[in-house]
Amino acid sequence: MSDPLRVVVGISGGIAAYKAVGVAREFVLRGHEVHVVATESALRFVGRPTLEAISRNPVETELFDGVAEVRHVALGQSADLVVVAPATANTLAKLAAGFADDLLGTTILASTAPLVVAPAMHTEMWQNAATRENIATLRRRGVHIVGPASGHLTGNDSGPGRMAEPGEIVDAALAALRPRDLAGRRIVVTAGGTREPLDPVRFLGNRSSGRQGVALAEAASDRGAEVVLIAAHLEVPAPTGVELREVATAEQLREGVLAAAPSADAVVMAAAVADYRPEVVSEAKIKKEQQGDELTLRLVRNPDILAELSASPVEGRVVIGFAAETEGDDAALLELGRAKVARKGCDYLVVNRVGWSEGFATERNAVVIVSRAGDIVTRADGSKREVADAILDLLH
Ligand code: C5P
Repeated sequence: MSDPLRVVVGISGGIAAYKAVGVAREFVLRGHEVHVVATESALRFVGRPTLEAISRNPVETELFDGVAEVRHVALGQSADLVVVAPATANTLAKLAAGFADDLLGTTILASTAPLVVAPAMHTEMWQNAATRENIATLRRRGVHIVGPASGHLTGNDSGPGRMAEPGEIVDAALAALRPRDLAGRRIVVTAGGTREPLDPVRFLGNRSSGRQGVALAEAASDRGAEVVLIAAHLEVPAPTGVELREVATAEQLREGVLAAAPSADAVVMAAAVADYRPEVVSEAKIKKEQQGDELTLRLVRNPDILAELSASPVEGRVVIGFAAETEGDDAALLELGRAKVARKGCDYLVVNRVGWSEGFATERNAVVIVSRAGDIVTRADGSKREVADAILDLLH
C-alpha cells in the first residue's frame, strides 16, 4: 500500500452528507489519516459522534476554536488531499468565489493540496447557469470534479445530481495525486461486450459489463492520456473526457479499432468480442411456429481483431489483450494465458478468471499479466480501477 496520506474530508449540508461517512471510512480502511471538517448544516444531517468514530479524529467545525494554534489554516496547510463530499450548490458557489467565512472555507483556501469535490444537489440546481459557471471556474483552477451521477434524489425526484458513490470518490481523489505520467499519449481502449444479431430483436451476446474497460479509459484519462473508448453495450456510464465511439458487433468493433489504431501509442482490448456470429441474419423475427421444436443456428467465425492488429506491429505502439478464462486451477490458467499470448502475438495479455459469479459485473478483479515471451510481468488484485492502473503502468 502507498504511504498514509493526511486527508481532509469536508462535508457540506446536503442529504448526501450521510454518504460522506462512507467516504471517510473508505480512506481510513485504505490506511489514511482522516480529518473531517463539517459545516454547521452538515451536522444537521449526520451526527458528530458517527463522524468522529469513523474518522478516528475530532470533527472540526468552529472557526474560532484553537485560535492560538491558528487552527483555521493549520488543517489545510498540512493536508495532502482535500475532498469535499457532498459539495452543495452553496458550497460550490463559495469555493468559486473564495469565501472564508467558515472553517471549511479557510481550510481550503489555506491548502495547496489537490482539491476534489463531489457535487450533490437537485437536478435543477445542478443545471442552473450559476452552478454551471461555478463548476467551470473550479475546473479551470484545476479542481477535480467527481460526478454527480444520475439516479434517485431526495423525495420522488430522479436525474443528474446524485452524489457519486464513496468508493468512486476515493478512487478519483487518490487518482488526483497521481502524476500525469501518460500526458501526450493516445490510448485506444475497447470495452463491453459485442452482440451478434440473429434477427431484428435477438442477439448472441456475453456478460461483459464494460466495467474493466471503462476503468482503464478513466485511469488513462486521469493520467493525462488522450483516450478513444470503443464501447459495446456498456452497463456503466462512460467516463467524461474521453472520446466515445459506440459499436454493436464484432465487425463494427474491428472497424473502430482499425480506424483508431494507426495513430495510437497503445491499444488495450478489454472488450469481450464474440468469436462467432450467425451466418445468416434473418430480416424478420424468427418464429417458433415456422421452426417447430428445434432450431439450428449456423455460426461463422468472426475476425480476431487482436491477432490482426498484432500481426502488423507499429514501432512504439503497445498492444494489450485480455484473456477471460473459466479454468479453476491457477497454473493451468497461466498456461492458457501463455499459449494465448503466443498465438495472438500481442505485447501483453491480461489473464483473469471468469465464471458464473466471478469477473463479470463485479467491482473487483484479480489478474496476471504475461508478456509475449510468456513471463509474468505483474499481478494485480483490487478494484477494477487499481487493476487498470497496474495495466497502464506497463506503458512506462
Ligand atoms: O481468444 P479470446 O476471445 O480469449 O481472446 C480475448 C482477447 O482477444 C481480448 O483482448 C479480445 O478483445 C480479443 N478478441 C478480438 N477479436 C475476437 C475475439 C477476441 O480482438 N474475435
